Amino acid sequence: MALEAWYMDSSDEDQRKPHRLRPHQPVSLDELKKLGVFHWRLDADHFDSDPELRKIREERGYSYMDIITIQKDTLPNYEEKLKMFYEEHLHLDDEIRYILDGQAYFDVRDKEDRWIRISMSKGDLITLPAGIYHRFTLDETNYTKAMRLFVGEPVWKAYNRPADDFEIRQKVQRTVQDRAGPPDQRIQYTGLKPPLTMLNSRTVESPTPLAGLSFSAQAVTGDEPNYIYPER
Ligand SMILES: [Fe+2]
Repeated sequence: MALEAWYMDSSDEDQRKPHRLRPHQPVSLDELKKLGVFHWRLDADHFDSDPELRKIREERGYSYMDIITIQKDTLPNYEEKLKMFYEEHLHLDDEIRYILDGQAYFDVRDKEDRWIRISMSKGDLITLPAGIYHRFTLDETNYTKAMRLFVGEPVWKAYNRPADDFEIRQKVQRTVQDRAGPPDQRIQYTGLKPPLTMLNSRTVESPTPLAGLSFSAQAVTGDEPNYIYPER
C-alpha cells in the first residue's frame, strides 16, 4: 500500500481525525520529495533482519536506533502529551521514523505554508528534513510503535515555531523554492521572522539516550508497552 498524504482542513476537531478537505486533495510522493520528505515501504515484520533497512541505514549513516511505543492505555498523561507532540516545531537535524505497528500522522508545511497530513502505517519509513516545520499525532486508534533513527548520537531538541532565524530553516526554504521551479513561478514563503530566542526551545532527554547506538538491529531496547515518547 502506498503512503497516503493530503491537504488538511482547518477545522478544530480532534487532531486525531483525518482532517481531509472536501473535496479530498491528495498529495503525491513526488510533491513530498520536493519538500525534502522521503519515504520507504519496508517489511516491518522482519525489521531486525531486513537487508533493505540495513542498506538505508548504511547509506545514510543512521547509526542510532531505538523503538518506542505510544499507547493511550499505558502512557501517563496521554492526552496532554498528544497535545505537546502536536505543537508546530522544527529540529536542526532530520527526523526519521519507521512505523513498526499501528498508525500515526506527521503533518508538514508545504511551500505555501499549508498543512499536509502524512498518514503513516506499519512498514512506512519517513525522513523529514532538518528545518521543516512539522507536528505529530496519533490517529483515532491511539496506538503506534515506531523506530527512531538518527545520524550519530540523537538530539531530542525541538524549536517551536517561530524559529525562522536558524540557518537550516533558511536553507530548507531555499531548497524547497529551488525544487518548485523557475523564480517567476515560485511562491514566497511567508513565515514569521522574529529574533531568535532560545526561550522557544526545549530539550527532553530520552530515558535511554544511548540505547541502540550499536548498528545492529538486535540492540533494540525500549520496547516496554508504556515507554514514553520523549520527542516530537
Ligand atoms: Fe519533530
